[in-house]
Amino acid sequence: GPRSSRSRTPAPERLIRNEVPTPMRTYLLLPLMLLASGAIHAENCSISLKADDAMKFDQRTVTVDHACKTITINLAHIGRLPAKSMGHNVVVTSSDAFQAVAQAGATAGLAGNYVPANDPRVIASTKVIGGGETTSTTFAGSLLKVGGAYMFFCSAPGHWTLMRGSVVVK
Ligand code: CO
Repeated sequence: GPRSSRSRTPAPERLIRNEVPTPMRTYLLLPLMLLASGAIHAENCSISLKADDAMKFDQRTVTVDHACKTITINLAHIGRLPAKSMGHNVVVTSSDAFQAVAQAGATAGLAGNYVPANDPRVIASTKVIGGGETTSTTFAGSLLKVGGAYMFFCSAPGHWTLMRGSVVVK
């Protein structure tokens, strides 16, 4: 009957207590404890991207929390080519402004990090780096609104057609 079939099924607790070795028990319990404390829902306040010699970012969508005071952008160029031939940066703008800012960036040149100076459409931008280099920058989280449409892209000439993605604010 149903009673006897229930008793044959080991309870999850019994599995953890009796049949899992102690170190593994810690790995199983830790995520449960984080879930219970709410720590697993901590704000994500950083955008970390890798760029390569094939003119690509490793992600097409990044997500940040609306409550972030400060948002950090981390860029790692994991290729080998120098900045003058395969330089990359990360620029954040509204989706509406992205193409115009990318085109204006070409005029600024490598010396200007391919970003128009003092342009209010630029929410954030890193410097341009070459292969093997990393760079970071920060900006105020209040510049991004929940439900707004934002993009990240590399503004090096020609790169922004491939090197771009969405910034989602949750
Ligand atoms: Co690029």
